[in-house]
Amino acid sequence: MNVTGITRSRCALGAGFLLLVSCDAVAPATTTVAELGMSGAQLYQRFCAACHGAHGRGDGLPAGVLEPPARDFGKGRFSLVSTDNGNPTDADLDRLLVRGMPGSAMPSFAWLAPADRQRVLAYVRGLTEAARAEALVERAGKDGLDPATALQRARAELRPGTPIAEPDASADPVALAQRGALLYAKHCALCHDEQGTGRRPVAQGDGKLVVRWARDFTSGVLRGGSSPRDLASRIVAGMPASAMPPTEGLSDRDLAALVAHVRKLILPGSEHRLVQQRSVVVAKRVAKVDAASDEQWAGIEEVPVVLSPLRWDADAILHARLQAMHDGARVAVRVSWKDPTCDAPAPGQAGRGDGVALQWSGEREPTFFGMGSLRAPVNIWYWRTHTFKERAGLLDLVSRSPHQLDVPPRIAAPGVTGFSDRAASVISRGHVSAAGFGRQDRGVAVLPRWENGEWVVAFTRALVSSEDGEIQLSPGLEVKLALALWNGSIGAPGRQKTFTIWHALRLAR
Ligand code: HEC
Ligand code: HEC
Repeated sequence: MNVTGITRSRCALGAGFLLLVSCDAVAPATTTVAELGMSGAQLYQRFCAACHGAHGRGDGLPAGVLEPPARDFGKGRFSLVSTDNGNPTDADLDRLLVRGMPGSAMPSFAWLAPADRQRVLAYVRGLTEAARAEALVERAGKDGLDPATALQRARAELRPGTPIAEPDASADPVALAQRGALLYAKHCALCHDEQGTGRRPVAQGDGKLVVRWARDFTSGVLRGGSSPRDLASRIVAGMPASAMPPTEGLSDRDLAALVAHVRKLILPGSEHRLVQQRSVVVAKRVAKVDAASDEQWAGIEEVPVVLSPLRWDADAILHARLQAMHDGARVAVRVSWKDPTCDAPAPGQAGRGDGVALQWSGEREPTFFGMGSLRAPVNIWYWRTHTFKERAGLLDLVSRSPHQLDVPPRIAAPGVTGFSDRAASVISRGHVSAAGFGRQDRGVAVLPRWENGEWVVAFTRALVSSEDGEIQLSPGLEVKLALALWNGSIGAPGRQKTFTIWHALRLAR
């Protein structure tokens, strides 16, 4: 059974809008995702504004929470473009929404119906054009420029150019590789270094060093995919919203040579490795839930999920596995992930340990992202290696600003036992609201284990809760579930957290 409900799209797949998605893109198997019946503006406010800001100026969250920050659409510059003038085509933008931007907080929206994606992207284009028109009017100053003409000119300026051709790979591979290495040393190694690890700070035009580093090809974290066409586009057009410059005047053969060389540096399998996809986790019906029984869990399918960082860190946890079961009275959800260090500050010690949170929503398509909203609260089950008292204190802070807690981490020796067996269950109405954070011990039990570089944490709770605002479950029901993980050994607390998009959890009848 395909519990994930997701397959890779094939070249032959689909008609109409999906054809715009390149062959190696990831698309939901169900090409008939129901439309949400919202306008582009409504979709934008619901799913994008949290990060990109109500007016698209990249100011949805306080500065510094996301790194890189969410794009300011007013600037009119996009990075993943396949045209010679640096303006994205509709297909470029759709592909970006389908894949998200791995290694950044920009999530995948492959689960949105193609028509919804089209509407929200048209709205984003509108924001960009309006900002450009405004700038043109301002620039015209007292010479005057009427708004309609300004908008027309803005649209012309932002129109996509000629598509960058697919590199010709028919040349002799040995000669191509030699030529590629030479060109790479000349044009690219300055920033990406000879081995492609990108460990050189990138100088801005004005000589100042910027914090952004060139991409590490060997890590397999690529915002825009690793197909020859993707790489050719990045090389020729550059990434206009970043310090990655366009490379001009390359012959077809030289472009093919560079692409071949970069592909050799890139970790194999990078194309799909970090692309988030919505999965369906099926909670299998069992006679009696026993979360401590590895034997019982062995019979339950593991669903792999990808996580995204709020702020990039090389030690961020980007992969986990989910399992679930229920017996008609209780539900258990188990999360497993690799983490070579067990970070568990002893009781009384300041510090931040490893942790995990499950976020639940009964809405059909809950808003993105973070911790719910006033209108649509979410229920969060939260466990960290802290003692309950310390955790309660932290949660108080979490309610104000979840990602900026500034407590230095303390690393305990592996093999620490006596983790708390209680998870907090809180109702969150958005990260600026503390409402509902008062009552935390609501009967969510947790069974944590760290062994051989891997965490295995199982949460259990009754299907039905008497607490207002908590998720209510029943056989046959499907709800939304998201996951967040914390790696306590990362020095900067703001970088410890990674998160998933909303997945579905279906309880078998
Ligand atoms: C969780 C935060 C978050 C949400 C929600 C989000 N974005 Fe983004 N988005 C980002 C970040 C961060 C970047 C910049 C990534 C980078 O520069 O590497 C980005 C970049 C982009 C870009 C620039 C692409 C390019 O080629 O440069 C577009 C377009 C975009 N987002 C559209 C959207 C749309 C449309 C939505 C809603 C359907 C959305 N985003 C929701 C965080 C978010
Ligand atoms: C001035 C410094 C600089 C030079 C020179 C440079 N790059 Fe980059 N490159 C960057 C930066 C910075 C990024 C990351 C941009 C971002 O995060 O948005 C990047 C990103 C990339 C990416 C990643 C795309 C993705 O999907 O994430 C590729 C591929 C790439 N560069 C290839 C090259 C090649 C090939 C050359 C030589 C022809 C080159 N770069 C020259 C700075 C540079």
